[in-house]
Amino acid sequence: MLPDNAEDFRTIWLCTDDESVVQVIDQRLLPHDYCIHELRSWQDGVVAIADMCVRGAPLIGATAAWSLYLASLQTSDPEAEIHTAAIALQQTRPTAINLRWAIKRVLTAISAASSGEDLAALTRLEAENICNEDVEISRGIGEQGLRLIEEIAVEKNNAPVNILTHCNAGSLAAVNWGTATAPIYFAHQKGIDVHVWVDETRPRNQGSQLTAWELAANQVPHTLIVDNAGGHLMQHEMVDLVITGTDRTTRCGDVANKIGTYLKALAAVDNNIPFYVALPSTTIDWGRRDGIVEIPIEERDPAEVTDIFGIRDGKKFCVRTAAIDTPVSNYAFDVTPARLITGLITERGICDASEGGLLSLFPEMRNE
Ligand code: MRU
Repeated sequence: MLPDNAEDFRTIWLCTDDESVVQVIDQRLLPHDYCIHELRSWQDGVVAIADMCVRGAPLIGATAAWSLYLASLQTSDPEAEIHTAAIALQQTRPTAINLRWAIKRVLTAISAASSGEDLAALTRLEAENICNEDVEISRGIGEQGLRLIEEIAVEKNNAPVNILTHCNAGSLAAVNWGTATAPIYFAHQKGIDVHVWVDETRPRNQGSQLTAWELAANQVPHTLIVDNAGGHLMQHEMVDLVITGTDRTTRCGDVANKIGTYLKALAAVDNNIPFYVALPSTTIDWGRRDGIVEIPIEERDPAEVTDIFGIRDGKKFCVRTAAIDTPVSNYAFDVTPARLITGLITERGICDASEGGLLSLFPEMRNE
């Protein structure tokens, strides 16, 4: 389970006994089994990302960075191996921009290195820095988002603040704290009465399998709901605030996130409920403006839709629920237009979902 001290929790780390091994939590097995999975090569990193042993935009980026470190150990020509690995890693998952961001950052560091420099040491340092910075970014989002929850708690005379979240943008999706969950964890630690509505998040069930698991491990009150329940709860004043994560946000504030996020935003707007997106700066795609047109949306295996994985009497199994020849489409993400978003919670502050809002917090990106 999670370590007693939430500060120490990490989703990815270098094995203390063997520095040629990177360890991660195997998220395919949660909540039934907590197993550590070992990455011994960059090819293991590719499989771990593609197969969603690790997932969530920030963690995908961190895993790519560590995979490039593993590549540097694998041959006598580390630079060539790193570039081969980078190409393969890029192709694993198209929507989360953190993957590209982390790869570019490591490759930039390599291209700036002097000849003969130890590329293993250099890639390791980049991977460590990416992870440490991610923890601080999530902490910043937690501190900023806490203000929103505090304000609602005051308005409600300290009655429970009901927050709806979709997918898993929690500790498991990042290196620690998470993005959407960070304000919730900070509020809970501060003694604010919070309760989380956890969307199941079909078809991979990141809500029921991951978010519910980590909220339970951190003793945060929560209730699992089916994906279609959110609108009903909002109509009956059972939701005070929606916070989701994002896999890629354009410079104009359009947000790609797990499929179904857009429908939650529509329901929130219709019911006058604040809809916020927790956005690490590493997830901003400064090169794109119109999310619906420009963000690539991942399509995944139809079996994720036709089959359900579960456990009974301690045994894991998969059952097919759809007829054998049913045509299936499985879009993994959708785009919520900026106009439906109340605000973006970044590590530097909360802003409007707009180019002006983002540039007010990140003025150095004006000419990007
Ligand atoms: O397909 P996944 O599980 O990688 O999708 C994850 C999400 O959509 C998260 O909400 C997003 O990555 C934000 S994680 C901090």
